[in-house]
Amino acid sequence: MSDQTVKYLLSEDAVPTHWINLMPDLPGAPLPPLHPGTLEPAGPDDLSPIFPMGLIEQEVSAEPEIEIPEEVREAYRLWRPTPLFRARRFERALDTPAHIYFKYEGVSAAGSHKPNTAVPQAYENAKAGIKHLVTETGAGQWGSSLAFACSLFGLGCEVFMVGSSYDQKPYRRSMMETWGATVHRSPSTLTQAGRDNAAHPTGSLGIAISEAVEVAAAREDANYSLGSVLNHVLLHQTVIGQEAMAQMALAGEMPDVVIACVGGGSNFGGLTIPFLRRVLRDGARTRFVAAEPAACPTLTRGVYRYDFGDTAGLTPLMPMYTLGHDFVPAPVHAGGLRYHGDSPLVSGLVRAGLVEARAYRQNEIFEAAVRFARTQGLIPAPEPAHAIRATIEEAEAARAAGEARVILFGLCGHGDFDLAAYDAYLAGTLEDPEFSEADMDAALDRLPEAPAIA
Ligand SMILES: Cc1ncc(COP(=O)(O)O)c(C=O)c1O
Repeated sequence: MSDQTVKYLLSEDAVPTHWINLMPDLPGAPLPPLHPGTLEPAGPDDLSPIFPMGLIEQEVSAEPEIEIPEEVREAYRLWRPTPLFRARRFERALDTPAHIYFKYEGVSAAGSHKPNTAVPQAYENAKAGIKHLVTETGAGQWGSSLAFACSLFGLGCEVFMVGSSYDQKPYRRSMMETWGATVHRSPSTLTQAGRDNAAHPTGSLGIAISEAVEVAAAREDANYSLGSVLNHVLLHQTVIGQEAMAQMALAGEMPDVVIACVGGGSNFGGLTIPFLRRVLRDGARTRFVAAEPAACPTLTRGVYRYDFGDTAGLTPLMPMYTLGHDFVPAPVHAGGLRYHGDSPLVSGLVRAGLVEARAYRQNEIFEAAVRFARTQGLIPAPEPAHAIRATIEEAEAARAAGEARVILFGLCGHGDFDLAAYDAYLAGTLEDPEFSEADMDAALDRLPEAPAIA
């Protein structure tokens, strides 16, 4: 039997004590979000109707590190530190000299990285006296995570679930209800935003966000909670990259390239930010690849502009790559990547050339996921299957160059609730929906009037 290590494990006392904030390391002043009505920079007071001050302070913080409250670290210990694997069997199957590592976030209760931010968000809201959180969910991963986190801190939870995912994944709803949440199919008839979008029955994250914000804003004891995009969400996710860096040190290597999928940017940011800081501070020569769906190619085909985070235009305007806030992406199975915009932080990194973005079609990502599952065993969620596709490309490039490059990718969730999608792929009936340039152009015509970004 080979004694080569395949799992790099940390003990519970290695759960990070701080989150890493990349803002102070970025060149230039960050572009502020803008108030949707006045177009003036939105300050903490503009965010306070839907977020607690503890999270708003994290959102705008210029501190390089922020301490993780002990109650949050204690909850993190339910599943953290998560394992880092060396994918030796996958390397052999790909016949590559590359060393492939992956950080596996599927061991959390919800099955993905999303509880890393759901827990601190529920904690800060409970501390502020809030009784109820309202949110949207695409793949069902975020809604499950918030339902789980609310159950830990005694909060009510209400989730608007994107229609196509609600239909594809009924057991995600069961999971949320098991943790005590109420789930609505979006677009619903409960909100103005839902009724206005009845013509888009598959729904979208943008529509579901509008519904959740509308309900949260109308209730004094309720707040809204967002599972991606915002600075504080990426901040919370940096526990992933910090642990991965310690685990790579155990393996005696550092990555040449770090790869993750991008929907709103949170698992990408969480894995890459500690490594990006090494590049910005110490001149490390790591590359970063963001993988997204060709059916919703925000980073590769979108425009870099101020846009709303939601379809109805209720959120502040954010500087980001966008396909237009009312662009409704085709109902691909990677529901978590069906978002018209992207994190301002990740968008800025792409714009600055620090991160390369690539887009993949649905069948090619499932082909990659099945190859991975048949060597490593784990069945990936469709979202990180995009990262696996990019990993295969990098491994093939390493073989062509004859170099033992070190690749680290984020396996941010398992696909155990996504088997209907695997069924379709294996039956040969999975579609590769075309991205509609005309729909994007029409949506871009409806971008709000806002200052252009240099
Ligand atoms: C498993 C999984 N991966 C990725 C994403 C995309 O989100 P983000 O880009 O914020 O990581 C989601 C979103 O729901 C998800 O459920």
